[in-house]
Amino acid sequence: MAKILVTGGLGFIGSHTVVELQNEGFEVVVVDNLDNSYHEVQHQIESITGQRVIFERFDLKDRFLVKKFFDKHYDLDGVIHFAANKAVGESVQNPLKYYHNNISPLVYLLDEMGKHRKNNFIFSSSCTVYGEAEELPITEDTPIVSANSPYGNTKQIGEEIIKDTCNVSTLQAIALRYFNPIGAHPSGKIGELPIGVPLNLVPYVTQTAIGLREKLLVFGEDYETPDGTPIRDYIHVVDLAKAHVVAVKRLLEDNNKEQFEIFNLGTGKGSTVLEVIKTFEKVNDISVNYEIVERRSGDVTAAYADTTKANKELGWKTELSLADALKDAWNWEKIVRSDNVIEEHHG
Ligand code: UFG
Repeated sequence: MAKILVTGGLGFIGSHTVVELQNEGFEVVVVDNLDNSYHEVQHQIESITGQRVIFERFDLKDRFLVKKFFDKHYDLDGVIHFAANKAVGESVQNPLKYYHNNISPLVYLLDEMGKHRKNNFIFSSSCTVYGEAEELPITEDTPIVSANSPYGNTKQIGEEIIKDTCNVSTLQAIALRYFNPIGAHPSGKIGELPIGVPLNLVPYVTQTAIGLREKLLVFGEDYETPDGTPIRDYIHVVDLAKAHVVAVKRLLEDNNKEQFEIFNLGTGKGSTVLEVIKTFEKVNDISVNYEIVERRSGDVTAAYADTTKANKELGWKTELSLADALKDAWNWEKIVRSDNVIEEHHG
């Protein structure tokens, strides 16, 4: 049984990935500092899979603790690195927090992996590296543009650090560039738990539908799209999680074609903001109060993935629809609100 370290494994995408790894027979060790996640998630994961999660709470910015961890878990077979901050606006306000939190742990992990001759590394990247792409859909060869936020820059720099390390060592790595992950586990036991007011569309929609927010603000309807609202590629978090399992197996079985590979992870289908709202209303039979307001600065008009490379090379494709994701997101929101344990921490 291969043993995988999942950093940030109690967060949104991390927790779903831990479930899929355990479902596929992997032994999982989670490291998380609980900065933007909850310890209860460990037990929720365990109740889905019926298996124990080994959990160590510490901050990966502490170089000594990273070293100690690798000395203890000398038998690791691979690392999936999710732990990072991800709020675009906050990163503009507090760039050093982002450079510190998103870069230092990456360097420490790669350093320790080198020292312990550990070669298999999966990195959480983002479609944000493409900015406003000139051609759609976005392939892995679409040019990277200068990042428009420190957050985006940390993803670009992260990829560069990994590529440079692969060039001079036996490290083999895969960067996964996510489009817009949404939804929740169909069991209703894990999902997205944004702290405070949500910044992303779907959590804002679910919180408005449940009455926690008065209305959803739709940022702009004057984009060059069929209904004037921006287009994104919304991918169910369970499909996304499964791609990580496929990617880690690819490295473990030495099926990778290059030492450093990059894959876009999306559905290949773009949806406008209004389409998301309408689909949510329809599949859940509930209406969402919304108002169209000014554009949000920094938003691109359209981004959706060309999934050919992931489909062919990884043999992976999405199985769940936007409707499935919006049903699961709503199911999760209702459960979170009625579950005192998580609600206490949810704020
Ligand atoms: N939107 C609204 N109202 C809201 C929130 C969002 O209308 O309250 C709109 C946005 O304007 C955008 C769309 O919904 O058109 C999606 O917005 P999200 O914030 O959900 O997602 P983004 O595409 O802006 O951001 C995501 C990730 C980032 C990543 C970025 C890369 O959250 O981490 O993709 O494009 F950097």
